[in-house]
Amino acid sequence: MFDKIEDLISEVSRFKADTKDQLEEFRIRFLSKKGHLAELFSEMKNVVPEQRKNFGLKVNELKNKAEEKLQLYTEVFSETEGVSDKSIDLTLPGEPMLSGSRHPVSIVRNKIVDIFNKIGYTVAEGPEIEDDWHNFTALNFPPEHPARDMQDTFFMDDEWGSALRTHTSSVQVRVMQSSKPPIRVVAPGRVYRNEAISARAHCLFHQVEGLYIDENVSFADLKQTLLYFAKEMFGEQSVIRLRPSYFPFTEPSAEMDVSCNICGGKGCNVCKYTGWLEIMGCGMVDPNVLENCGIDSKKYSGFAFGMGVERIAMLNYTIKDLRLYFENDIRFLEQFRGQ
Ligand code: PHE
Repeated sequence: MFDKIEDLISEVSRFKADTKDQLEEFRIRFLSKKGHLAELFSEMKNVVPEQRKNFGLKVNELKNKAEEKLQLYTEVFSETEGVSDKSIDLTLPGEPMLSGSRHPVSIVRNKIVDIFNKIGYTVAEGPEIEDDWHNFTALNFPPEHPARDMQDTFFMDDEWGSALRTHTSSVQVRVMQSSKPPIRVVAPGRVYRNEAISARAHCLFHQVEGLYIDENVSFADLKQTLLYFAKEMFGEQSVIRLRPSYFPFTEPSAEMDVSCNICGGKGCNVCKYTGWLEIMGCGMVDPNVLENCGIDSKKYSGFAFGMGVERIAMLNYTIKDLRLYFENDIRFLEQFRGQ
């Protein structure tokens, strides 16, 4: 009896399956209800008690070996199953994993914020639905000012005259109300204007506005800060110029241009052959605005600036149509992978 088991053990050890059928045959011979193992287990009761333990151990050894073999070849056959299928060409390249990428507006907004972080500006945020006071009145907009007109502003139908904010200057008002100078903040965020959608305008876009208030802040400080920004953003060779402008909340006010980083100022179709690109509005905070927000305009002065993120990104990447930012076309978006 023991010899028979030893023979079976060595047979199992030698067993090799070339096909699934051979494996099935093996399973039936050893592990099925009528197989060797079932037979040996049923003989257990006929074995003399002194030998029963050893018998049991040997039968178990056989059982474990047979089961191991069965499992081994089952795995081998399941792994190679697809391979023998001639319709699959294993030399084809794998499908690339699609990974996400940041939106160009986020990339550029982060870059702008980083540039100002480096010189001590912190980030401030505020609500996108604003009341008339934060968006207009505190910022010295006269009651009949055309920017309050329905043309530009999406008003809400409520008792407070709320509106979707038309600029993030409203965040600066909130910062001035809630903190004491020195103040150094940038306010990035979404803004809304009731404009017809075209290659150059959209009803939703992003701004980063900045505010600096302390004792003795001068226009020279503003100029130097903006020059630093232009060099960081568009390259060391950049120069800026300021043209007089008007905003209700700054006096004096200016429009800042940077030398065209595409043609280096020589003139090209991006800068419309002027050599300059219009980047942002800026100016010294009007004393009325400081007083409206509870800051002593005799002691403190400050400057503010504001730029459109989409516009800067357009210049950075030579994007010709603003609408591309909002279409979510993967062919457009995936060009910014890794930035
Ligand atoms: N708030 C202005 C705008 O939305 C930009 C600006 C900010 C101008 C600060 C001057 C000073 O166009």
